[in-house]
Amino acid sequence: MFLRFNKAFSLNFTLIMENWFSRELITWYNKNKRDLPWRNHKDPYKIWLSEIILQQTQVVQGMSYYLKFVQKYPKIGQLAAAKEDEVLKLWQGLGYYSRARNLHAAAKAVNEQYKGVFPLTYEDIKALKGVGDYTAAAISSFAYNLPYAVVDGNVYRVLSRLFGIETPIDSSVGKKQFQQLATKLLDKKEPGQHNQAIMEFGSQYCKPANPDCQNCIFNAKCFAFKSARVNEFPVKSKKIKVKNRYLNYVVLIDKNNSIYLNRRSANDIWKGLYEFLLIESNKQITVQQLLKHKTFIENAGNKLKLLHTSKLYKHVLSHQHLYATFYVVRMAVSLPKTQTKTTLKNLTDFAFARLSEKFLNDCELKEIV
Ligand code: ADE
Repeated sequence: MFLRFNKAFSLNFTLIMENWFSRELITWYNKNKRDLPWRNHKDPYKIWLSEIILQQTQVVQGMSYYLKFVQKYPKIGQLAAAKEDEVLKLWQGLGYYSRARNLHAAAKAVNEQYKGVFPLTYEDIKALKGVGDYTAAAISSFAYNLPYAVVDGNVYRVLSRLFGIETPIDSSVGKKQFQQLATKLLDKKEPGQHNQAIMEFGSQYCKPANPDCQNCIFNAKCFAFKSARVNEFPVKSKKIKVKNRYLNYVVLIDKNNSIYLNRRSANDIWKGLYEFLLIESNKQITVQQLLKHKTFIENAGNKLKLLHTSKLYKHVLSHQHLYATFYVVRMAVSLPKTQTKTTLKNLTDFAFARLSEKFLNDCELKEIV
């Protein structure tokens, strides 16, 4: 009978498990790993880039962005020298834009503090903006073979199932417990390989839904499989609270066909990206309510023509559900020069959130205006 991971979990037990687990895992990895571009070298800059891209993104979605970034900025100094708008534009569509802003800020810091040489220690890597425990462990083990164990969603799943750990992974006790176990199991001679292997095993085999347990190399020892409780692991204590937001976007077009944009500056989603005039409401509003809205009148006045009302777009983020409608409005006047304005042709030079991009792809603005 396999032991439950609670007080009964003993040091001796893990010591036996350590070698066995890592040996099996790395053997599996060498036979089954995907050929991914960031695995074919030890360049810490490119590994960092791949890890930031993959923080909230699947490999299939992140791959083209990784290739674009490496091609445009082959060295960290080139990324540091770029304009933030340019970096955000290249990141467009990937979401969680603070990653791009932090990436750019960290590249500048490496250039200034380390003369463009990527930091060499776990602590210095972790001090970079946007780098937490997981990312620092991934970079320092993949690039420098330093013995730091990664704990990401894959690792939580593999270890909680294998050992039957019921401590919630979103509790501080759970985080500590999983980090300790992962560190104990880490192959100290091949930490980079071991870390890649456990994540690959989690993402390709020990999947969140419908894992192929019958053919798993660990099934004879897996607590969750043997007790038919695979779907119960990992345990989470909190339910994510989802907030609904209603975004009413007004595409303001003046008599000269200029289109007005705003750059988001608040500490909110999409900071640094561009958008049309936004009127946010706490519930869905009608066109009539929009036309009477104070912010609408302040910006667009009342001499105008509503040219188009879009369908309702729903956009799901981890903690927010966004409901957006786009209204295309022709104004009789022009707005003050201080406003950012552009033309239809140059609209795509600006970095928009995916939600606005979807609207722009669906709606042929040039046929409407
Ligand atoms: N997800 C996060 N890091 C990864 C990596 N290096 N390879 C594959 N998937 C990943």
